[in-house]
Amino acid sequence: TYVVTEVCIKCKYTDCVEVCPVDCFYEGENMLVIHPDECIDCGVCEPECPVEAIKPDTEPDLDKWLEVNTKFSEEWPNITTKKPAPEDADEMAKVDGKYEKYFS
Ligand code: SF4
Ligand code: F3S
Repeated sequence: TYVVTEVCIKCKYTDCVEVCPVDCFYEGENMLVIHPDECIDCGVCEPECPVEAIKPDTEPDLDKWLEVNTKFSEEWPNITTKKPAPEDADEMAKVDGKYEKYFS
């Protein structure tokens, strides 16, 4: 599966949702996640994200993000249509420690 990672938090460009052939993105207040059981590993979303928040889970050190995607894709509503990103999305994409701040 592919996973959405920390960079998406408070950034949320949502370009990714428009290209997914199986509509497996789910939207929380601060980020999007991919449903790991629905993702067919096509990879088309990865280059769509302007801030490179989407990674294949074969990359190292993504265990935490696979957990986040698995858990919240069961709780959050599906999203299939792009919406405007926050005005400070580019700045927020560069901020570290967003997981600790917004998920605990
Ligand atoms: Fe959707 Fe393909 Fe991205 Fe998986 S890899 S979330 S199926 S666009
Ligand atoms: Fe997030 Fe990138 Fe999609 S910022 S909403 S993963 S386009």
